[in-house]
Amino acid sequence: MRIAIIGTGYVGLVSGVCLSEFGHDVVCIDKAASKIARLNNGDVPIYEPGLEEMIARNVSAGRLHFTTELADPVADADVVFIAVGTPSRKSDGHADLSYVYSATREVAEVLRGFTVLVTKSTVPVGTGDQLERIIGEVNPDADVAVVSNPEFLREGAAIADFMAPDRVVVGSNDDRAKTVMAEVYAPLDSEKHPVVFTSRRTAELTKYAANAFLALKLAYINEIADLCEEVGANVQDVSLGMGLDSRIGRKFLNAGPGYGGSCFPKDTLALVKTAQDHSRPIRLIETIVGINETRKRAMARKVERAIGGDVRGKTIGILGLTFKPDTDDVRESPALSIVQALLDKGALLQAYDPEGMEAARELMPEIDYRDDAEAVARGADALVIITEWDEFRSLDFPRLKGLMNEPVLVDLRNIYSPAHVAEHGFLYESVGRSDRAR
Ligand SMILES: NC(=O)c1ccc[n+]([C@@H]2O[C@H](COP(=O)([O-])OP(=O)(O)OC[C@H]3O[C@@H](n4cnc5c(N)ncnc54)[C@H](O)[C@@H]3O)[C@@H](O)[C@H]2O)c1
Repeated sequence: MRIAIIGTGYVGLVSGVCLSEFGHDVVCIDKAASKIARLNNGDVPIYEPGLEEMIARNVSAGRLHFTTELADPVADADVVFIAVGTPSRKSDGHADLSYVYSATREVAEVLRGFTVLVTKSTVPVGTGDQLERIIGEVNPDADVAVVSNPEFLREGAAIADFMAPDRVVVGSNDDRAKTVMAEVYAPLDSEKHPVVFTSRRTAELTKYAANAFLALKLAYINEIADLCEEVGANVQDVSLGMGLDSRIGRKFLNAGPGYGGSCFPKDTLALVKTAQDHSRPIRLIETIVGINETRKRAMARKVERAIGGDVRGKTIGILGLTFKPDTDDVRESPALSIVQALLDKGALLQAYDPEGMEAARELMPEIDYRDDAEAVARGADALVIITEWDEFRSLDFPRLKGLMNEPVLVDLRNIYSPAHVAEHGFLYESVGRSDRAR
């Protein structure tokens, strides 16, 4: 199949590369000329494990191309995926569809022959209908079927998720489009990786329902963690005891500083808005949006308590800035709120993240960025682990203690056992585990 992908970001790039790995001919298109130039020079603009090798393989096989020009690849394509951003609209929290709409207009002008236009971006229910209307206005003669194919990949595990997904959801009421989409995903083993065909509106809503449910699990275990701290229980054991029940499952039950990233915050908010607009408010999700927002800043108070009450003039070392490990993405990372709250309270911050510092520098210029965990520990009154990168799982405590002003560790991801850290003479604070020790 000849495929054009509009938007070469975290989702568009990974989808394009993996579709070329399936054997399709793929052109990835982006307006950001610098991104396309880097890709054409063999340089990958995002950090995603395994991506660079896969790009190189498919580029040299002649199946994968990068360009800023949309007209020819779209005219030649059997399938056009839209994978542009759908951030929260600043004014009201609805999904901002302006990028999707403008990409659709550009596509509509150059369509040739029967083409399947697929929204891979996360878009509210009913967006496919809007896109059909836009195409009808711009190019009434276009022979096009608009399909919803939401993406469920996780940054950091994106290639495995795309190549071996739990499921692929395709929403379409058009038989020709269904045949084309079945061919796109034909290389997947249909038993292990089923392609679920639904109506278009169902597919659009499925993505939000899934993301909101995962966010709900996280918000829930975070609230249980807070209760654990009050009653002297251990949230990790509670999670294990719950998660081993196959009806519940163990994933997304790790207590932490609140969910972040480029999807959960905006998608929960957009679902709330959609439900309100249809006079069917989903109070459950409205509630977790609020819980999560307050939680992130509340983590700064945890740091404050750990160092004895006042962070003004104190130096806090931050380990991890991305919203999760194995990505360079800091969008809506809990670190942003925690850092801001600590700065507001008068703390001095020094930080290190293995991949996220370039993006973090733009959003948090007040931080003193350092080269590794030891450099962050130097002169610090406390170390705070915000992201559970593997390299923070084996910190050299005796060495860090020698470098720090005060041996205080706040572990917002519960990666250490309290006893282990205490053995090294640290004051240790974590999430939902009341077993603190000096
Ligand atoms: N990031 C994730 O983990 C993830 C997972 C599942 C779904 N999604 C959804 O996928 C969509 C894309 O997310 P992302 O994280 O890849 O975004 P991103 O910001 O990384 O990438 C979007 C890209 O689209 C480009 N773009 C915008 N308008 C364009 C146009 N008219 N023509 C060409 N290029 C254009 C931008 O320059 C940018 O490079 C969103 O709707 C998101 O909710 C994201």
